Amino acid sequence: MVAITEAVSLEKDGEIGMLWIDNPPVNALGHLVRKGLADGMEQAEKDDEIRAVVVICKGRTFCAGADIREFGKPPKAPHLPDVLNRFDQCQKPIIAAIHGTAFGGGLETALSSHFRVAVASARFGLPEVKLGLLPGAGGTQRMPRLIGPEKALAMITSGNPIGADKALEDGLIDEIIDGDLVEGAVGFAKQVLSENRPMVRVRDLSEKIARADAQIFDDFRKQLARCARGFEAPQACVDTVEAAVAKSFEDGLTYERKRFEELMNGSQSAAQRYYFFAERQVARIPDVTKDTVTMDIQKVGIIGAGTMGGGIAMNFANAGIPVTLVEAKQEFLDRGLGVIRKNYDISASRGKISSDDVDKRMELISGTIRMEDLADVDLVIEAVYENINLKKEIFSRLDNICKDGAILATNTSYLDVNEIAAQTARPESVLGLHFFSPANVMRLLEIVRAEKTSIPVLATAMAIAKKIKKIAVVVGVCYGFAGNRMFAQRKRESEKLILEGALPAQVDRVIYDFGFPMGPFALADLIGIDLGWDKDNSNSRTMQEMLCEQGRFGQKNGKGYYNYAEGSRAPGPAPEIDDLIVAFSQKKGYIRREISDEEILQRCIYPIINEGAKILEEKIAVRPSDLDVIWVNGYGWPVYRGGPMFYADLVGLDKVLDVLKKFQAEHGDDFKPAPLLEQLVSEGKNFGSLNA
Ligand code: 3HC
Repeated sequence: MVAITEAVSLEKDGEIGMLWIDNPPVNALGHLVRKGLADGMEQAEKDDEIRAVVVICKGRTFCAGADIREFGKPPKAPHLPDVLNRFDQCQKPIIAAIHGTAFGGGLETALSSHFRVAVASARFGLPEVKLGLLPGAGGTQRMPRLIGPEKALAMITSGNPIGADKALEDGLIDEIIDGDLVEGAVGFAKQVLSENRPMVRVRDLSEKIARADAQIFDDFRKQLARCARGFEAPQACVDTVEAAVAKSFEDGLTYERKRFEELMNGSQSAAQRYYFFAERQVARIPDVTKDTVTMDIQKVGIIGAGTMGGGIAMNFANAGIPVTLVEAKQEFLDRGLGVIRKNYDISASRGKISSDDVDKRMELISGTIRMEDLADVDLVIEAVYENINLKKEIFSRLDNICKDGAILATNTSYLDVNEIAAQTARPESVLGLHFFSPANVMRLLEIVRAEKTSIPVLATAMAIAKKIKKIAVVVGVCYGFAGNRMFAQRKRESEKLILEGALPAQVDRVIYDFGFPMGPFALADLIGIDLGWDKDNSNSRTMQEMLCEQGRFGQKNGKGYYNYAEGSRAPGPAPEIDDLIVAFSQKKGYIRREISDEEILQRCIYPIINEGAKILEEKIAVRPSDLDVIWVNGYGWPVYRGGPMFYADLVGLDKVLDVLKKFQAEHGDDFKPAPLLEQLVSEGKNFGSLNA
């Protein structure tokens, strides 16, 4: 074995050269790998004994793509497209031997090889679009030639991987290797030699692109305009695949490079690359180390079979963990279990799970009206309505019922977890698990670390969150924790803006155009305007009271800030509500004025950032990027803008601070800048500098 670079070595097995890549953790194609591949291939070509080359990886996976950490830095030669063009031109057959994930540049490396073999568990994908990019080392040109433009478009614009069976069926790989990959790949290479098989240069294939139906490109564009609204990369992916059909291979490559670089230098990809690392960083809690012992959660109890409790139960059943669901009355329990089954049946009818899965998952959920049945569970999640006294009573009962060491969690959205923990003799085992609605769908989970929560309990909560496929963010105790506390700022400002002169449709348009799935008033209609409305004390003091008094509860009864046609969720105009808002605000003494879109955006977004800064100062969140993860996963913040804290850095903290000060002078202390923001600006730093 000869070391070519620290990450690549060349081994000879008779007439087969094995080019080994060893660059943990995921064999990303960093500089040392690219150089190793280029030099190693040159060496193999010069070596007369070697007649075929197998490219293969050590560790858990084939190359997972270009090294994202190198992006944004000055590129170092050799560049991947050049290395891969050399692969193409190599006079000896190259066989890519794949296990784990061949992603991005990794798959492009395989596409530039002359044959591809893989183990049955391997996965293949071009996920660049998820980083705001397109495959930039020939993937947009080679993939359509190999599997046809339509399948290539599906893979490239979605970024979703396919398995080995599908890859074989589509012609992406030549063979699935049963058993040992090294042996299988070497055997395959020997066969290629003995049969004198012609080397397949994907760049020269033309049959599938010649047959392409030009209409598919427009169809994809239209579909992506809807399902990837606001994202630049997916449309660029379509353009480059179209170029594979319309242009020569060389011209297509040049075009691909140009579009790749445009995206790479744009703010969307910067945001999405930042977010990729933010989502991984969030799992790192300074005082939780790899050695922290976690508990094995084998059985879970959930109190409350309402929408929240039922959704939470589904998460555990989906992961194969048995759940005991507790309700106060049999009829509530029956209703809750019925809703769960209905949700599973809907998934089955859409082909997402089989009817067998429905039965298996339902079998994992058992219902009871006796809290005593929670004696043997390892984790209890209380999901009853927000009433501190009720929650305190439940926790003191749980403390008596549950076995020693069982973790007791509350799903409260606002209440004081320390106060709840104090009801038990085991506050070290108490924490908040704040799921977002619908709990079986939303990926975000705020793990609320109370004053006395122990480190192993926290680590166990992180581990179980991963098992049920949630993105968990650790936050501290305060009213609304991190997400809702920041969200309250936008709600307050949007409500003030319609009194000062804007109308719901204008505010919603600005927020929608920024990239949120909907604006604050369409959202209020969706959630229900009557949520938190005190009917008995309602006295037309706020717009919420005004609307509820008129029976306008939102989508649920077809009228709220907007009017909804029968069976439709699309907000339609409600001129009567615009008139009501105008009259109400004038009665309240507002002199209505024209409000610019820019002011609406800044009034709604900058206070979120400012509150985020306060949350960081109070150490409620570990780092700014954790707040971004919360907003992207829990509140519909467009990932191509990174999250509020990343966005603030992009705008410039000095500008954010100036605008907040201006608003403070005009509208009062709701805009008082957080000391941390002032400090960062005075030190010339940004939130990114706190993302350790
Ligand atoms: N570059 C640099 N680091 C990477 C990386 C990459 N392409 N892919 C993963 N990593 C790092 C992660 O940041 C993480 O680091 P950490 O341990 O310090 O946090 C570590 O590798 C392990 O990653 P995961 O925690 O994600 O491990 P999983 O086992 O859950 O997933 C994976 C592995 C499926 C490979 C997943 O990491 C992944 O999807 N990676 C991204 C793949 C990708 O986007 N490739 C395209 C890159 S762009 C490109 O290739 C451009 C080309 O067209 C020119």
